[in-house]
Amino acid sequence: MTRAIIVGSGSEIAPTRVTNAQMARIMDTSDEWIRERSGVEARHFATPEIATSDLGVAAAVKALETASVAKDEIDLVVFATMTPDHYFPGCGTLLQDKLGLRPVPCFDIRQQCSGFLYGLELADAHVRARLAKTVLLVGAEVHIGFMPWTRQNYDYALGRSDVPPTKEEWDWNSRFRHLVVLFGDAGAAVVLRAVEDGERGVLDHELHGAGADYDKLYVPGTGFKHRPYTDPEQFKRGDHIPVMDGRFVFKMATTRMVEVAKSVLSKNGVKPEELKLVLMHQANKRINEHCAKVLGLREDQVPHNIHKYGNTTAATIPLLWDECVRDGRLEPGDLVLMVAFGAGMTWGASLVRA
Ligand code: ACO
Repeated sequence: MTRAIIVGSGSEIAPTRVTNAQMARIMDTSDEWIRERSGVEARHFATPEIATSDLGVAAAVKALETASVAKDEIDLVVFATMTPDHYFPGCGTLLQDKLGLRPVPCFDIRQQCSGFLYGLELADAHVRARLAKTVLLVGAEVHIGFMPWTRQNYDYALGRSDVPPTKEEWDWNSRFRHLVVLFGDAGAAVVLRAVEDGERGVLDHELHGAGADYDKLYVPGTGFKHRPYTDPEQFKRGDHIPVMDGRFVFKMATTRMVEVAKSVLSKNGVKPEELKLVLMHQANKRINEHCAKVLGLREDQVPHNIHKYGNTTAATIPLLWDECVRDGRLEPGDLVLMVAFGAGMTWGASLVRA
């Protein structure tokens, strides 16, 4: 049987580190609230010249290097992001060009926090169907474009300006405080290779999508439902910034992540204690602690990076993978479960032998 093995990974964190205390300079929030309610301590944001494709390219270069795979060997690109450089084209072909790859098929995945797992299933299916031998799978995000503050507010947050927000700006920024404190910018990539008859590789997946509650986490404006698709009124209303019913999403995430993890484990006859690691999407540390407890996982099985980077959406799971490989927590042969929940609503789990 042909299977896809992850043979290399790489990641790139956006350059500007912003602490919770810095966020609290421009909106009504506090380090204590953010830390206790979400687990986030800091996040990194991209500088204006860095777009999502750039973080993806930087991560991909490192992934190719660790995999010892030449650019010419890549025969499929899959790029997951909810913050593409342009409305169209997607980031897949931009990455193909910036990396100097052959004109291979490039897929763009837009399943938000579940994007990497959707991309992994697509990549694995291509390998199993012998349509591709070597796949570059990337997740990258630049969320800073969603942020409500002005350039001057941001400079004040970072201590580069002495001009504090006006009352109006403070109130505007604070309106989105439950959302904007959660996200950060990063890119991460893996290289997958076809192998025959081995024990290692992507073993199984289960993906789900259900749109009934899409409006509990979505961007109301800047869509082709509108005529024109974007206009100044939408920006005045803040419709370009995601709307999120945090409590609803929290409950859905905890329920669905546990369900899908249990389902994949039972289908494959794997007990939770047999897993070396469970890489959970990092939207809120409390979500993951809840899932880990219900699934009966040990602390050493569940790595976190939300405290350092916040929610990096499609980049989160490959970033965790890359960190665990680099610090020796993940070695070839280890059994890993990846679990995610995101806007859509979408969720899923993948079982992989590293
Ligand atoms: N600072 C201070 N206070 C805040 C902040 C903030 N940043 N944000 C909200 N609050 C206040 C609220 O106004 C509320 O005040 P009130 O009681 O006076 O009304 C209080 O804190 C509690 O608000 P809740 O929304 O109930 O807080 P909760 O404990 O649910 O935490 C959070 C909010 C962090 C958003 C949580 O609900 C969550 O993480 N939800 C899931 C997010 C998620 O998984 N998203 C999916 C992935 S993202 C994607 O796919 C794109």
